[in-house]
Amino acid sequence: MTVRTENTSPEKKKTQALCVFVAEKSEDPFGLPKMHQKIDHTVKQVCKETKGKIGSISVIHTHQMVPAQRIVISGIGPRHKVTHESVRVSAGRLAKRMSELGIDEFCIVIPDSFPLKLGIAAGAAVEGVNLSLYSFDKYKSDKKTKQPSLTILTDQSKTSGAVSKSNSISDGVLYARGIANLPPNECNPAHLAGLAKSLASKNKLRCTVLSKAELRQSGFGGISAVGQGSKNEPKLIIMEYNGKKNEKPTVIVGKAVTFDTGGISIKPADKMDEMKFDKCGGCTVFGIMKAASDMKLPVNLVGIVPSVENMPSGESYRPGDIIKMYGGKTAEILNTDAEGRLILFDALSYGIKAYKPKEVIDFATLTGACIVALGTNVAGMVSNNDRLAKKLEESSQRTGEQVWRLPINDDYMDMIKSDYAEIRNTGPGRVAGAITAAAFLASAVGNTPWAHFDIAGTAWVQTGTKDKPYNPKGATGFGVRLILDYLSQ
Ligand code: BES
Ligand code: MN
Ligand code: ZN
Repeated sequence: MTVRTENTSPEKKKTQALCVFVAEKSEDPFGLPKMHQKIDHTVKQVCKETKGKIGSISVIHTHQMVPAQRIVISGIGPRHKVTHESVRVSAGRLAKRMSELGIDEFCIVIPDSFPLKLGIAAGAAVEGVNLSLYSFDKYKSDKKTKQPSLTILTDQSKTSGAVSKSNSISDGVLYARGIANLPPNECNPAHLAGLAKSLASKNKLRCTVLSKAELRQSGFGGISAVGQGSKNEPKLIIMEYNGKKNEKPTVIVGKAVTFDTGGISIKPADKMDEMKFDKCGGCTVFGIMKAASDMKLPVNLVGIVPSVENMPSGESYRPGDIIKMYGGKTAEILNTDAEGRLILFDALSYGIKAYKPKEVIDFATLTGACIVALGTNVAGMVSNNDRLAKKLEESSQRTGEQVWRLPINDDYMDMIKSDYAEIRNTGPGRVAGAITAAAFLASAVGNTPWAHFDIAGTAWVQTGTKDKPYNPKGATGFGVRLILDYLSQ
C-alpha cells in the first residue's frame, strides 16, 4: 500500500476513521481540534479512562456530528518516552484494528505538536502500518480481508519526503518477506534466480546468475560442495545497482539455503520445516536492492546471493572432505550442517575480488549458537571495523532492528585452524559457535571493512519472539530497514 499525506485539517476531513495519538495522562490527543461539544467531551472521557496507555485503542462513533465517521484514540505511552518504535507499534495496532473493523480507508493525524520530528513520526507510522497489514496468504483460497488505505494528515512540506522513503522501505521489507515465506518445494535456487532476474528488469539492475557448471569452473568450491547433494542445482546471484558515479560500491551478501536438512550430518525432525527460512539472508539482500533502486539512493550497491539446497544424497559432500574455496584456501568439512559459512566464504571472497568494495556486509541465518547467546529478538553482529560497527549500531537504534556486537580476535581465528587443511568448518565443540562461524567468514574478508549479521533468531517469528504488530507470523525481513537507514546517512 502507498501511504499518502494531506494538509487537510482534521475537523474538515471526511473519512471512515480519524485516528489520533494521545500521551499518557493527557486528555488532549495530538492534533485533534475542538469539533463539536458532545464529541469533545466524549474524547476527554475516553482519554481519562484509557489513560493513554500504549496500545489502547478506543473507537468513538460521531453520528454525523463531524465529517469523520469515527474518531479513534490511540494511546502512545508517556510523552517523553515516545520513540520511532512506539509510533511503529501504535500505528501498527491501529491498522490491524481498522482492518478487523472492515474499514477500507483511515487517517492518522501527525501535527507539529507531536513529540518527535515530523518526518520521523510520519515515516515510522508508514512502516508500522504497511508492515502490520502483511500476511502470507499465497496458498490460501480465502484471502485475508482487504487492506485499509492510510492518509496521514500532517504538514506535507515537512513529511512527504520521509513518507515516500518509508513507503519504498516497507515495500522492500514486504518483498523480502514474500520470498522468504515461500515453501522450499516452490522456492529453490533456480526460482530465486528467476525472481532476481525479474526484479532486475523492473528496477534497472544488472543481474548475473552463475550456474552449477560455471561455479565449478570458476573455483567456487564452497557453493559447489554444498550444492552437489541436491538435484536443485546451486546458483550464485549477483545484482548491481548504480546510483552514483565514480564511487566504490558496498557489497551486501546474503545466505540463501532454500532448505537446510543438514546434509549427511542430518538435522533432527523437530522444527526442520523452519529451515525453509534458511534463505532469509538472501531475501534481505533482495529487499535492500529493490528499495535502494526504488528510492534512487545515491550509492552503489552489489547484492550477492549464494543459493543452494543442502540435501543428503549419494552425491552429497561429506564430513572429512577437503574442499578448495574461492580464492584457493582449503577447508576441511567436519559437519555438513555448517554449510552457510562455506557458501558465504565464496561469495564474500568473490565480491571483494571482483568489486574492490569500500565495505562488505553479510546477512545469514548462520548458527543456532547465536540464538543460545542472544535469543530471538537481537541479531549477532561481528565486525573487523569499529567505525562501520558503530554506524550500524546507530541505524539499529533508529530502526528498532536490534543487534549486539560479539567479539572477534586471533584466538577465535585459531579455533578454526584444521589439522589437515588451512581451515575447518566448525570450531572445537559448541563453544562460541556464533563467533567461530563468523571467524570462518573473517578468513575470507581480510582487511576489507566488514560486518556480519547472524539473523538465525530474528529472521522469522519463532519461539521467544516478542509479539509486535509489525512482525506478523513468518519471515520478518530483518535487516532491510537497518541497511537502508545506514545507506541513507
Ligand atoms: N541454518 C542453520 C542455523 C540455524 C539453526 C538457524 C536454527 C536458525 C535456527 C545452520 O546452517 C546450521 O545448521 N548451523 C549449525 C552449525 C554447527 C553444525 C556447527 C548449528 O547452528 O547447529
Ligand atoms: Mn545447517
Ligand atoms: Zn543453514
